[in-house]
Amino acid sequence: MNTAASAFAGADAVQLHDFARLCEQQALAHDYAHCSEVQGNVPIYQAQALRDGDRTQVLNELHHLFSNGPGVLVVRQAYTDLGVVDRHSKVFQAIFAEEAAQGVAADHFAKAGSNGRIWNALQKAALHAPASFVEYYANPLLGLIAEAWLGPDFQVTAQVNVVHPGGQAQQPHRDYHLGFQTVDVVQRYPLPLHALSQYLTLQGAIAHSDMPLETGPTQLLPFSQQYALGYLAWRRAEFIEYFQQHAVQLPLNKGDLLFFNPALFHAAGTNRTADCQRMANLLQISSAFGKPMEAVDRERMMLALYPCLLERVSDQVLDAKQVAAVIACTADGYSFPTNLDTDPPVHGLAPQTGQQLMHQALAERWPLATFAEAVQRQRDKRNA
Ligand SMILES: [Fe+2]
Repeated sequence: MNTAASAFAGADAVQLHDFARLCEQQALAHDYAHCSEVQGNVPIYQAQALRDGDRTQVLNELHHLFSNGPGVLVVRQAYTDLGVVDRHSKVFQAIFAEEAAQGVAADHFAKAGSNGRIWNALQKAALHAPASFVEYYANPLLGLIAEAWLGPDFQVTAQVNVVHPGGQAQQPHRDYHLGFQTVDVVQRYPLPLHALSQYLTLQGAIAHSDMPLETGPTQLLPFSQQYALGYLAWRRAEFIEYFQQHAVQLPLNKGDLLFFNPALFHAAGTNRTADCQRMANLLQISSAFGKPMEAVDRERMMLALYPCLLERVSDQVLDAKQVAAVIACTADGYSFPTNLDTDPPVHGLAPQTGQQLMHQALAERWPLATFAEAVQRQRDKRNA
């Protein structure tokens, strides 16, 4: 082999039989100690088993699953109180109504009228309904799964997707980063960067409605994330055909989670019902090291959520883990990029992060005005 040339691959290097050999692997329940069963090659977890498990063991198991395993998992009953999910669905409905009234364009990635989308649902929900945001994201399971793949200081973004009756299936694809580039661009990235792309994000979905098979829950091809040349392959006819023959679909219930490696071949399914909407809050969670797809004004979110969080902390309605879960979805957890002329390290090697500031403010019960000034100071220091 010419090793000097092997860092880059062209589209002609892809081979369906290499791909098929990987996708023929079987996921075995006993390899995933905390899962309750494997369905359609997808490990299914009861949320309580993840909550009760030894944290380090759970993190290891999930990381292995996303990387060397089938690449996709389902968590049942991630919300014990479905009222929390329903109240947040109402927030989404209100945002939909507001955007429809303003004539905001719908989904760029689907046929007009078949879908409803809320881009940057994270920020919009935080500003629209802080109390609902706080109770909804005060769920440490989301961060546990994100951390298993991405480590700490991940950056959550969210997009709501509603598929109306008759909404058609997507073509199979991979997701962000390289899944959003043309083959010409993908070929210019050396292969280690293809592998890196999958480590920079994690795809998730929170089911906001029951999703029986006829509503078209996501079609998934377990183990397909392991194919090294997959970003060059997913548009090819023979790969699409293989996907259509071998993809699995799992019914979800309201409050269930689906998480998968962004390199997994997947596609939204067809909603064959006459009257059933399918609604999910899609989470695209980025590594601290990566550029997220969506711009989020995290300082604005911090200020919008602070009064509500302060009240919940003072009244001891939320415990420390729940507060940390909300802050992890809200503020920036990473010190960089910053302006090192004006924002030198305070303790250790890195300047204070938005998350650290928010924790400190809540722990010391700062009034909103004090917190707002500190957020502004931090913003000014970090800007170039
Ligand atoms: Fe996708």
